[in-house]
Amino acid sequence: QKNFTLAVVGGDGIGPEVTAEALKVLDAVSAVHGVTFERTEYDLGAKRWHETGETLPDAELAEIRKHDAILLGAVGDPTVPSGVLERGLLLKLRFALDHYVNLRPSKIYPSVGSPLASPGEVDFVVVREGTEGPYVGNGGALRVGTPAEIATEVSVNTAYGVERVVRDAFARAQARPRKKLTLVHKNNVLVHAGHLWKRTVDAVATEFPDIAVDYLHVDAATIFLVTDPARFDVIVTDNLFGDILTDLAAAISGGIGLAASGNINPDRTAPSMFEPVHGSAPDIAGQQKADPTAAILSAALLCDHLGLTEAAAAIEAAVTADIEERTAGGTRTTSEIGDAIAKRAAG
Ligand code: NAD
Ligand code: IPM
Ligand code: MN
Repeated sequence: QKNFTLAVVGGDGIGPEVTAEALKVLDAVSAVHGVTFERTEYDLGAKRWHETGETLPDAELAEIRKHDAILLGAVGDPTVPSGVLERGLLLKLRFALDHYVNLRPSKIYPSVGSPLASPGEVDFVVVREGTEGPYVGNGGALRVGTPAEIATEVSVNTAYGVERVVRDAFARAQARPRKKLTLVHKNNVLVHAGHLWKRTVDAVATEFPDIAVDYLHVDAATIFLVTDPARFDVIVTDNLFGDILTDLAAAISGGIGLAASGNINPDRTAPSMFEPVHGSAPDIAGQQKADPTAAILSAALLCDHLGLTEAAAAIEAAVTADIEERTAGGTRTTSEIGDAIAKRAAG
């Protein structure tokens, strides 16, 4: 395949700013690698919600579904009640398109440094479950606003859902040189879900005898992410733990401005979606202050998913070279960074 269709959802805050740079870089590599990306932009997010009350109408979801892949910026805005866009747009996409593998790689680029004094060789990937856990919306509130209020968010973990993401994580560990998988959960307290995860990992492990399997409670995992992040190779974990761990992972490895992700549908029954780990950053939106690198690296993950291995490698190499030139407190604008990376990726 040479011509790919992309659904683009810039979204809110810095989302459109960083997405524009990712598209710039995709254009630069597509010219060199003889492919085209035919883009359709979807006007979704805070502005749309204010104007129409809509987050993601089913008809538009059906249109988005027809594309080869989705590139998303970020959603969420202080003028919209918290949760409306996050659930009604972003999570609706992840759930409807069965993005059960939320892939979040972390590595320390030698020159960019880390807030950690001696982090060692950090290169791991978090395989975060993307369709279950406390995110499913199973819960509710009673007697809201009264002293007798009760609020529940029930974490849903199915044998089917846990097994498929655990299998994916083992397969990824198998394809990596260090061949190590760490399950992160909290099975000393969350005994129902935790034991399902642990049993599933132990069962699937028998099919992958050369993978070293490890288990950490999530609280201890945060210790080791700071004191010894080089111990990790593939981390598999549930939706909420994975969300939290991957912001921490970003912080220790060059910052949130570099952290890319893919919401993958490994069975390819629907398009996968690529987006930075970060959010809409309302504090810096509209000022050309955002680092677009995370969005650009997400575009590299997109290329990889579409089988465009060389294009993905060209983007990663361009980013690596760009990062090598960065100095502390760099003052380039969002689009200057995008221009610089696009130029390198093309050449
Ligand atoms: P955030 O990631 O938007 O911002 C956290 C901090 O990181 C802010 O100081 C911000 O300026 C900084 N930051 C983020 N991206 C950056 C970049 N590319 N370059 C430089 N600095 C960057 O998280 P938040 O403040 O918790 O959330 C803001 C909104 O975004 C909320 O509405 C939240 O729900 C939403 N959100 C969306 C996504 C998503 O769309 N995938 C992810 C996280 C948060
Ligand atoms: C992320 C975000 C989302 C999540 C929110 C905005 C729904 O924090 O992509 O990390 O929790 O998955
Ligand atoms: Mn998050």
